[in-house]
Amino acid sequence: MFEQVDYRNLQFNPFTTIGEDACLITVGETKSWNTMTASWGAMGFLWGKPVCIVFIRDSRYTYQFIESAQGFTVSFFPAEWRRALDFCGTHSGRDIDKAAKTGLVPVALDGLDESERMTFEQANMVFSCTKAARLPFESSQFVIPSIEEHYPNRDYHRMYVGFIDQVLVQES
Ligand SMILES: Cc1cc2nc3c(=O)[nH]c(=O)nc-3n(C[C@H](O)[C@H](O)[C@H](O)COP(=O)(O)O)c2cc1C
Repeated sequence: MFEQVDYRNLQFNPFTTIGEDACLITVGETKSWNTMTASWGAMGFLWGKPVCIVFIRDSRYTYQFIESAQGFTVSFFPAEWRRALDFCGTHSGRDIDKAAKTGLVPVALDGLDESERMTFEQANMVFSCTKAARLPFESSQFVIPSIEEHYPNRDYHRMYVGFIDQVLVQES
């Protein structure tokens, strides 16, 4: 289903792929996982490694998973799955089975030390990451004061830096 590719060979626009197409951040293992839609994120190079950086508000159910997880996946989908992504971004896994409601089929990938990481059969590109750092946003660090307008309820994002262990794409 998936094949591994070298991150050096990827050809896509991270700005539109993350910011406009959006992705699913998925955390947990077969027995218990959660996924949420994200359109804020970053990719690049940090601490000598290729990284994916995701931003998750404390109010998300996913936050409870990623705090205790060793890793997570960031998965991208063909355009026909946009409605599923919108669903996963407007409903909480606290209340609903997102796979059952969207038709997304969960798949377990090998994580580190015999752990699992979850993604979905329909993904066309997956970054499987080890959680390297968690960095809370602090209001006092916002240089441009209007950034605070994103946080009327003061539920700031936490930034999670993931070292990319594997990049997977659909087998050709
Ligand atoms: C297009 C889109 C992008 C989103 N991006 C983010 C994001 O980057 N970070 C975040 O914390 N929430 C983001 N959200 C909101 C969460 O996906 C949403 O609150 C979701 O229901 C959380 O699910 P959970 O409670 O199961 O974790 C986004 C929602 C949508 C529709």
